[in-house]
Amino acid sequence: MAAAPTPIKTLDKEGREITSVGFDRFGFDCEVSLDVLRSLYLRPHYIVSANDIDAAPLANSQHVAFGSAEYQSKSIFHPDTKSISYTTLSRFAPVKLLPPSVRKRILVTGGAGFVGSHLVDRLMILGHEVTVVDNFFTGSKTTVSHWIGHPNFEMVRHDVVEPFMIECDQIYHLACPASPPHYQFNAVKTIKTSFMGTLNMLGLAKRTKARFLISSTSEIYGDPEVHPQTEDYWGHVNPIGPRACYDEGKRVAETLTYGFQRQDGVDVRVARIFNTYGPRMNPADGRVVSNFIVQALKGEDMTVYGDGKQTRSFQYIHDLVDGMIALMNSDESRPVNIGNGDEFTIGEFAELVREIVEKVQDEDGVKRTRSVKIIYEPIPTDDPQRRRPDTTRAKESLKWQPRWTVRMGLEEMVRYYKAKMEEGSL
Ligand SMILES: NC(=O)c1ccc[n+]([C@@H]2O[C@H](COP(=O)([O-])OP(=O)(O)OC[C@H]3O[C@@H](n4cnc5c(N)ncnc54)[C@H](O)[C@@H]3O)[C@@H](O)[C@H]2O)c1
Repeated sequence: MAAAPTPIKTLDKEGREITSVGFDRFGFDCEVSLDVLRSLYLRPHYIVSANDIDAAPLANSQHVAFGSAEYQSKSIFHPDTKSISYTTLSRFAPVKLLPPSVRKRILVTGGAGFVGSHLVDRLMILGHEVTVVDNFFTGSKTTVSHWIGHPNFEMVRHDVVEPFMIECDQIYHLACPASPPHYQFNAVKTIKTSFMGTLNMLGLAKRTKARFLISSTSEIYGDPEVHPQTEDYWGHVNPIGPRACYDEGKRVAETLTYGFQRQDGVDVRVARIFNTYGPRMNPADGRVVSNFIVQALKGEDMTVYGDGKQTRSFQYIHDLVDGMIALMNSDESRPVNIGNGDEFTIGEFAELVREIVEKVQDEDGVKRTRSVKIIYEPIPTDDPQRRRPDTTRAKESLKWQPRWTVRMGLEEMVRYYKAKMEEGSL
């Protein structure tokens, strides 16, 4: 049997080891072990072959060093029929036992999506009662399947453009496709989701007196004329371009949110989220990080749109979830930018992804068939040239700032996609 791989250390921007995410602040403890979280996403299914029930194909890879598989289902792959027998979990990940006065009933719309599923993991582990409402347009039940059956968890297939009634204390309203191919697939539906979905959820917040947090976006700044963008900047958006259904949809969603605050006293929070990446991002959604990683892992050339000089800043999912939970529980009702200010040109970023993919492949003993090249193609309409958050407000009022380096986050994400490819689900 091969020796167990040496555990891999994850270091933050100051070079300190990251063993947990979250914090003990605002009078509540929301710290969560990174190992437990990782066991929920790093190996989406722990697959063994029907020919060799005791052997796990990934057992010798560095994935093991990255986190435990304790809370995963051990599904069985049948090579002869290329099929999979899903098994249920024998044990849910441990959740905190909270007294009823502290335990909250939390609704997460869009909770089966990329950001939503990580938020759900965190809220569940913290001991809250979580209801996910999702129409599975871009999300999937598999992202939260490890909670199905848990007494604190409920999943509802529902489209937020229709009203929804539930008793709850907090609403995280995330439901909306977020990647350009998805939100442009049906532009009218995207605007309906942004407007009517937000209207319905704000109506619910008004009736239940729940605190309401909306996941807005840096896209409301459009192709900005000021750098970095502070929350006071009003934006530079093309109202009739192909991205307008999303950008203007989110702008009107913010307008509605503050309308309900002024007129009806709804307790609101607005998170303006900048580019975020991490495991469970839909690999086919056309966003730059997932595109680059999947291309490099498959040994295909990496496509950069434009000359590669446009810049982006990328935030890791755990930093975003920290920021959203901090905002929800703070007194800050003005919009707050949540993003990572480390700016890369897309060309530099492509090189970094290629380097990390090669590092992970070398560590796992994967032989490359060819060297991956970076190729350039024409830039899509209205693609912003520069975008970088000014996160002074988040730092001052939430005491929040990103901890994850892009390198560390990318390594986790590369391992996640690599595991999915080894399972055959990518
Ligand atoms: N990921 C990012 O970089 C980013 C950046 C800025 C803002 N955001 C915002 O965060 C939220 C989540 O983004 P994500 O990256 O997880 O996207 P995602 O597409 O993975 O998740 C969106 C979820 O909403 C669901 N949904 C869409 N329309 C719905 C409807 N009408 N009714 C019910 N459910 C619906 C989808 O099925 C999916 O599960 C979005 O509101 C997005 O605008 C994300």
